[in-house]
Amino acid sequence: MKIKTIILAAGKGTRMRSELPKILHKIANKPLLKHVYDMSRQLEDNSIKIVYGHGAELVRETLSDLDVVWIEQKEQLGTGHAVQQVSDLISDTDDVLILYGDVPLLKLSSVKQLISNVNDQALALLTVNLENSTGYGRIVRNEMGQVIRIVEEKDANDLEKLINEVNTGIMAMPGNKLKKWLSQLNNSNAQGEYYLTDIIEMAVTDGVTIVTSQPETVDEVLGVNNRIQLSHLERVYQQEQASKLMEQGVTLRDPARFDLRGSIEMLGQDIEIDVNVILEGSNSIGSNVKIGANTHIKNSIIGDNVEILDLCVIENAVIGNGSRIGPYARLRPESVLAEDVHIGNFVEIKKSSVAAGSKINHLSYIGDTTVGSKVNIGAGTITCNYDGVNKFRTIIEDGAFIGSDTQLIAPVTVGKNATIGAGSTITRDTPEDQLTLSRAKQTTIDGWQRPIKHDCMDAGGRAVSGTSADDCMDAGVRTMSGTIVEEK
Ligand code: UD1
Ligand code: CA
Repeated sequence: MKIKTIILAAGKGTRMRSELPKILHKIANKPLLKHVYDMSRQLEDNSIKIVYGHGAELVRETLSDLDVVWIEQKEQLGTGHAVQQVSDLISDTDDVLILYGDVPLLKLSSVKQLISNVNDQALALLTVNLENSTGYGRIVRNEMGQVIRIVEEKDANDLEKLINEVNTGIMAMPGNKLKKWLSQLNNSNAQGEYYLTDIIEMAVTDGVTIVTSQPETVDEVLGVNNRIQLSHLERVYQQEQASKLMEQGVTLRDPARFDLRGSIEMLGQDIEIDVNVILEGSNSIGSNVKIGANTHIKNSIIGDNVEILDLCVIENAVIGNGSRIGPYARLRPESVLAEDVHIGNFVEIKKSSVAAGSKINHLSYIGDTTVGSKVNIGAGTITCNYDGVNKFRTIIEDGAFIGSDTQLIAPVTVGKNATIGAGSTITRDTPEDQLTLSRAKQTTIDGWQRPIKHDCMDAGGRAVSGTSADDCMDAGVRTMSGTIVEEK
């Protein structure tokens, strides 16, 4: 049976108090609507329609790569009205699945179970029992326990308000039946809206059975209406991902202080992750990797036996086996490190490759550079890759030793096993195996005296700050350093 999924996503989300349409707010850096889409994409033989409205342009623009049919609901006149917009696109032989764009954590397993309950004579409804059911549509059952209708909070009487079983909004039914019921909807209710929930009573009248199922956890069916709920679902989602990683053998020092905003393509064994680590985008992590506290890693490949110390920011980088990074290191896009590379504190690498066994341990900027193997780059070395208009490359060949506080003015090549003296500004290529340095001659000034500070005292003996010896002399008073200044 073909599934036609309709995701309702036209609502404004007033309580978010945001310029951004609600469904574009994110969990784990992914729009709420994209969560729903990604889950439903996994259903076989499915085609997806999204009913959108509020913030239409931005929604279409942000999610332009989704494989869906977009249907605009120009006025939001209720959930029934929203589904009516799709009516013409539903064929009689489809099973239709209704999802909400602001219910991001719904699981595929719950949806599959729901769909399996649909047949010619059955409508499937996902319900949940809530201790506090305020605000939700209540599931009304007859004495035999059969669902007979859904009553919305605002239309419910006191007795109905006591019902704890609520409508999640998620349901599935045969296409031909849905089309018929949609055409019969009206808006004579407390909110003056076209309620999709009214189709339940119509189904019962038509002799269709309402089959209910429940999700594994309540969190699956919680919607996002405000930022408190958004943060709650973010934590639920993160905790779930953290648990999965721990099951796969990752040590998380504190799963409550770990964020995976994306995916891990490859995961080695015995990975240890300290607190407040963020993994973003698509990352691969080898075996025996340690990641220190407060580190942010995005779209990177990390080899085996790598140690990343605290407080590093790593993006679009490749880190070879056995390398050690940080603390306080920044690897910017296109940093490619081979095996056993050491990148130390306050070192920034950009668009550069560093071959095996090289060390850049302190306070350096290496950009647009090819660093050979077993190169040692001293503290405070800077590749000057930019003349204000153009970027140029620096090449540092194997075995070179760059003295501390060197500036390499690109384009420039440091030859194999060359040594650069500390404090040099290198503007021309330097030969292999030799020492090159550019440094002003050191001089010492004979008989030079260090200036001393002379503060005057006033008549009461209090310091008059900022005064010089000359000022004191003019006034004929004592300096703070104690000498009596003779009157001129
Ligand atoms: C709806 C259900 C209620 C259920 C609750 C679960 C109805 C009448 N009520 O109530 O039984 O307990 O969800 O959360 O269906 N939307 C549109 N266009 C519209 C109106 C809504 O696309 O014109 C979308 C919203 O963006 C949202 C979803 O439909 O994703 C639900 O709308 P919402 O206004 O939140 O419905 P509730 O009144 O909460
Ligand atoms: Ca809602």
